[in-house]
Parts: sequence; C-alpha cells; structure tokens
Amino acid sequence: MSQELFDRVNILIREIDTEEVVGAEAIEAFRIRYLGTKNIIKPIFGEIKNIDNTRKKEFGQLLNKAKQTAEEKFQTLKSSSEAADDGVKKADIDLTAPPRPLQLGARHPVSIVMNRIIDIFGRIGFTVAEDREIEEDWFNFTAMNTPEDHPARDMQDTFYLKDSDSMLLRTHTSSVQARVMTTQKPPIRIIAPGRVYRNETISARSHCQFHQIEGLYVDEGVSFADMKQTLLYFAREMYGPETDIRLRPSYFPFTEPSAEMDVWMGTETEEAYRLTKGTGWLEVLGCGMVDPQVLINCEIDPEKYSGFAFGIGIERSAMQKYNINDIRMIFENDVRFLKQFRSVV
Ligand code: DAH
Repeated sequence: MSQELFDRVNILIREIDTEEVVGAEAIEAFRIRYLGTKNIIKPIFGEIKNIDNTRKKEFGQLLNKAKQTAEEKFQTLKSSSEAADDGVKKADIDLTAPPRPLQLGARHPVSIVMNRIIDIFGRIGFTVAEDREIEEDWFNFTAMNTPEDHPARDMQDTFYLKDSDSMLLRTHTSSVQARVMTTQKPPIRIIAPGRVYRNETISARSHCQFHQIEGLYVDEGVSFADMKQTLLYFAREMYGPETDIRLRPSYFPFTEPSAEMDVWMGTETEEAYRLTKGTGWLEVLGCGMVDPQVLINCEIDPEKYSGFAFGIGIERSAMQKYNINDIRMIFENDVRFLKQFRSVV
C-alpha cells in the first residue's frame, strides 16, 4: 500500500513539472488544481495514516515537494505571463494619434550672420577657406607684413602658447590669407570665416574670443574699383538695396591703401541714431589692396598680380541685428538665450 502511494505522488510531481500551461486561463486552472482551497494534493495528506510508520516522515516530505513544485511553477508562469502582457501593452499603441512635434534646435546668432555673409559672397564666386586657430607667428604676423615691433604682437594682445614664442592663437582670420596664398595660385577668390582670440579683458563690449570673416581676391588686374563694387554689392545684399557705403582712409599693415567701410543707416530711427552715435554711418569692415610685400612673402609676383582683402567682425553685426547688449551672452550658451533664435535660419 505504501509504495503505491509513493508512486502516485511521484507521478503527480512529474505531471506538475511537465504540464504545458499556456495563457492566463490555463495558469488560473493550474493554480486552482494544485494550489487552490480544493487542490488535489491536499486529500493525499489524509493518506499518511495508511503509510508504514517508518516511512511516514519520508512521505510527508514527498508531498511537500509536490506542493513546492506546484508553487514554484505557478510563480514562474505568472511572472512570464506578466512580462508578455507588458509587451502587448507596449505594442498596443494608438497609431492614429497625432505625432508629438519634433523639438527643433536653434542656430547660434553668430552662425546665422556668418552663413548669411558666406551666402552673399558665394553668389559671386567666393568659396569658403577654413584654417587652423592655433597658428604660427609667421602666418599670423610676418607674412601679413606686421613688423616685429608692431604693438599687435605684444604679449598683452596675443595669446602665445606656453613655452613658445612662435605658436599662438590667431588674432585675426587674415592668417588664412597667407595659408591660401602659399598653397594656391591666382586666381584666388575666398572667404575665411572663423574664430579669433585676443588677450583682452572680458566685458559687455569686448571678449577674448570673437569671429571674423576674411575676404581675399587675387588675380591679374584687380583694382580698387573692383573692391569698392564688390563691397557695395555686399552692403546692399546685407543691409538692403538702397544702402550707401563710404570708404574712409585707414591703416592696416597688410593692405595699401587701406580703408574702413561704413554703411549709411541714417539718423531717422532711434535705433539708427543710437547705433551710429548720431552720425548716420555704421562702421562695418576693414579693407584694402593687398600690400605687394604680402604677395612677395607668399611667393606671388606683384608685377603680375594684384588683389584686395577685407575683414568683417561678426559679433558686432549679430549684436546689432538681434539687439544683444552684452557680448558675453554670445559665448555663455545659456539655452534660454539660444532658443530665442529657433525660427531663424
Ligand atoms: N585683420 C583685421 C583686424 O583684425 C581686419 C582686416 C582689415 C582684414 C583689412 C583685412 C583687411 O583683410 O584688408 O582688425
């Protein structure tokens, strides 16, 4: 009698173990059958009285094993079915719901102005030339005809690299002129946008870093009139078709003659009055005919070729255009500031 009961329970354990239970209903049926209040294991406990005394304990343990097997299997079934349910819920999305709007980024005001200028000159055949910010003294100063004792070379203006008196952070994009002229043959027609550095105290009006766009045109027979016409075209594209310009004599070591270009804003609006300090003229860029010595330094024959160059500061234009009154905001990258340019390209 005893052995029969042992066999029954062993078969039961094997059944519990191997039974295939699929789906929520089957799991519930499994639970009721083996673990519910009227489960089929419980009555077998009543059979203990029919077991030989010597094997009673062993039989009890076997029944407990059956119970435990059912319990463990049920837990496994339950958790895997919950995971599957989750999957169904995730896949069960409403495909007809309207999409959430994409979060668009914003262009930086410096990029907006720079891209606009690149675009304007691109239309008349100027291509973009970019070069390094960590520059050799020769390209930044010497090639650009800036004498050894020029104040611009002073440690107070220029960031030299540690332990070096020949490597520096470029102080202007004019260094790209030398980079291009030493590697390309005329005709050369480039604009070079980029970041430049000067050792200046940071304030609302000046910063130790800012951006410029350099322009360079070298070919046979390039004249001052070509420069003036090119810059007038630029001013009218940038500031409107009625814009007038004037060129004031100036000095730069790398151009001869040199000039500064102003655009006529008038004094009628309060803003124009403020920007031009009441003169009506707004200073926009420096320019001039490439000094023959610069051509010689870059091994271009000044008897054959001539050229003009110009340099435009970006921050000032961006600040005027977007009414930014502190240059530091341009470099802080505060998202609250930047996201205001979201709709501008
Ligand atoms: N490099 C000058 C500066 O940083 C700007 C400049 C003036 C560039 C005249 C030129 C130029 O190419 O012709 O102030």
